[in-house]
Amino acid sequence: MTRRWGIMGTGIIAHAFAEAIRAEGGSVVAVSSATPARAQRFAAAHGIPVAASPHGDLLRHRDVEVVYIATTNERHHLDAHACIAAGVPALVEKPFALHAPAARAVLEAASTAGLFVAEAMWTRLQPATQRLHAELASGVIGEPTAFQASFGVVLNSDPWRRWRSAALGGGALLDLGVYPATLAHDLLGPASRVQATGQLADTGVDLNVAVVAEHERGSATWRCSFIEASGVWATVAGADGHIWIGEPFHHAPSLTVHPRDQPVRHLPIDGHELGYRYEVREVHRCLEAGLLESSTLAHADTLAVLEMLDEIGAQLGVLRPKLAPVTS
Ligand SMILES: NC(=O)c1ccc[n+]([C@@H]2O[C@H](COP(=O)([O-])OP(=O)(O)OC[C@H]3O[C@@H](n4cnc5c(N)ncnc54)[C@H](OP(=O)(O)O)[C@@H]3O)[C@@H](O)[C@H]2O)c1
Repeated sequence: MTRRWGIMGTGIIAHAFAEAIRAEGGSVVAVSSATPARAQRFAAAHGIPVAASPHGDLLRHRDVEVVYIATTNERHHLDAHACIAAGVPALVEKPFALHAPAARAVLEAASTAGLFVAEAMWTRLQPATQRLHAELASGVIGEPTAFQASFGVVLNSDPWRRWRSAALGGGALLDLGVYPATLAHDLLGPASRVQATGQLADTGVDLNVAVVAEHERGSATWRCSFIEASGVWATVAGADGHIWIGEPFHHAPSLTVHPRDQPVRHLPIDGHELGYRYEVREVHRCLEAGLLESSTLAHADTLAVLEMLDEIGAQLGVLRPKLAPVTS
């Protein structure tokens, strides 16, 4: 069955996701922007029949069966609430909300309304991540107890200053740090103690963050940065070896398994190039099965990661906008 998507947002990722929907046999029937001209340009580029503005108008189009929310971070919870109020399931870009209480309110509203909602944390659905879990379950490196990662990419340009804007929920933590935080959580369980240091921009958002965290089953050290080219790598270790997750670790093209007493195995990952298509497939699967939650994109995990990011942000004194009230 062809699923009819609406897309809120006209940025870089929305373009990529529109292609992924089409590649998975879905159709995009409407797109929205805060600016009518941007919605129209996007619609023309992808052959989408409806260009809506402002974002809420997308939900007036009864053709829309499910919405992909790719707006700026500070709007995610508002756009998700609007979808829920209109009775439409939603896939919400990371970070699901600017902080855990806002995310919790969305999840509660979706549950009350009996609607599917999920965070678009595509790393969890990547074949490399699935293979990583399988390798770990085989015991090849023993129980994983240590995670290290870096997500550092230097921003030579911030074309319209989203990344450094406190008002738009910018900062390295929410854009990049959410990936190592997610993988650390998924591999080692929830964090019980977090210690962070970092550098803020003059706008009050974080440019550079280093984290040491104690998790249920081990410890993690990771960093994220807009100003250090530290790479996008990750590794997980246990008493019997370690696994190197190929760059970029959040949609890795390979894994390299280094068991302590056995030869090294390099594992190229087929299908990593399908990128966002796994999310489209997962949403289609959940909707077809009548599920309100994806077990791979579980609500509790979204919340636990945001709680960790809230604590890190608070330690660094990151400036977050006061969230607009939900009026639905
Ligand atoms: N899963 C992933 O791999 C991934 C990758 C990148 C980003 N993301 C997430 O997706 C969301 C969107 O990220 P993005 O990279 O697509 O951001 P982006 O290109 O900056 O676009 C985000 C929004 O900013 C507005 N915008 C973009 N360029 C603008 C301009 N020149 N002037 C005024 N407004 C402009 C658009 O608003 P309108 O819609 O109102 O036109 C657009 O929807 C973020 O929450 C981010 O965390 C996810």
